Amino acid sequence: MSNPNLNTDSNNQNAAEREFENAIRPAAIAEFSGQPQLIENLVIFIKAAKIRGEALDHVLFHGPPGLGKTTLSRIVANELGVSIKETSGPVIEKPGDLAGLLTSLEPNDVLFIDEIHRLSTVVEEYLYAAMEDFRIDIMIDSGPSARSIQINLNPFTLIGATTRSGLLTAPLLSRFGIKSRLEYYNHDTLRKIILRAAGILQVEISEDAAGEISRRSRGTPRIANGLLRRVRDFAQVLNDGQIDIGITQHALKALNVDEHGLDEMDNRILLTIIDKFKGGPVGINTIATAVGEESGTLEEVYEPFLIQEGFLQRTPRGREVTAKAYSHLGRKRPGSAASGFLFE
Ligand SMILES: Nc1ncnc2c1ncn2[C@@H]1O[C@H](COP(=O)(O)OP(=O)(O)O)[C@@H](O)[C@H]1O
Ligand SMILES: [Mg+2]
Repeated sequence: MSNPNLNTDSNNQNAAEREFENAIRPAAIAEFSGQPQLIENLVIFIKAAKIRGEALDHVLFHGPPGLGKTTLSRIVANELGVSIKETSGPVIEKPGDLAGLLTSLEPNDVLFIDEIHRLSTVVEEYLYAAMEDFRIDIMIDSGPSARSIQINLNPFTLIGATTRSGLLTAPLLSRFGIKSRLEYYNHDTLRKIILRAAGILQVEISEDAAGEISRRSRGTPRIANGLLRRVRDFAQVLNDGQIDIGITQHALKALNVDEHGLDEMDNRILLTIIDKFKGGPVGINTIATAVGEESGTLEEVYEPFLIQEGFLQRTPRGREVTAKAYSHLGRKRPGSAASGFLFE
């Protein structure tokens, strides 16, 4: 039985969350922190397109969730001074849906397709000609009277976003002139993002509290903002709204947030390598089977963070956990001279 009250509650919650998101989501390139190389290039490409009065080349943003792909796509449209239409791979069910979207675009507008790796094959094939020649061929009727009509489109920019670029087909990939990978953020950049968000929300936060949240945010602005939101709750109820280091540590402990910001899957990967494979080296496919996740997701989403933070390394023979992983998980390292430091 569904509970209507529960429903309303969750809707309210979503609306509040959405409002929070919208308030702090950067709208201009100058408000977007991090990803310096990507931004530097993007600024050039946007300026060049504007000078020529042309549509920006098609852009693919790929990288783990919560790093700013959607945010950047909106910023690009904003900086180009054009409108953006947003959709996602699974929503475009048939070529007609795509045609409807494409024919509604004004010259040089942006069409944003989130989760572009989930486009159906037929739709994807229609997209090729649209991206390349700004036209689509639509089949009308079927059987003997079937014929195709060609529709010319306004020039547009397709921005695709995906967490799994490895699943994109070669023909689709090759049609993106600009391919940018978003990387996990370092602690310092995350701290700035947190301080900026706190400023917009008008909550008082100390530098060290922001630093603490940044270290626990798994290199991810979305997580950092989510933690800020929760810590703010604790601060409002217990600390007159002041986010200092004490209330931050209290909140993060109560929320059971990992000391290094690792999530459940991160910890499961490390523990599996330690407990089942003696710390490695072990092949990615073997790990994937053992933890019940696709190897592509491990490679594109989990591994880059674990490597960046020094928990995991890639060796020619496979993945190996580091001493830092052993100590984080409270496991003893085999062969590590446990008595070693007694004599040092
Ligand atoms: N570089 C950044 N600077 C400030 N905030 C950011 C940045 N990147 C992402 N965010 C914040 O993180 C949240 C998640 O970003 P989003 O673009 O939705 O990620 P993705 O689409 O990659 O999953 C957004 O609400 C945005 O406010
Ligand atoms: Mg997104």
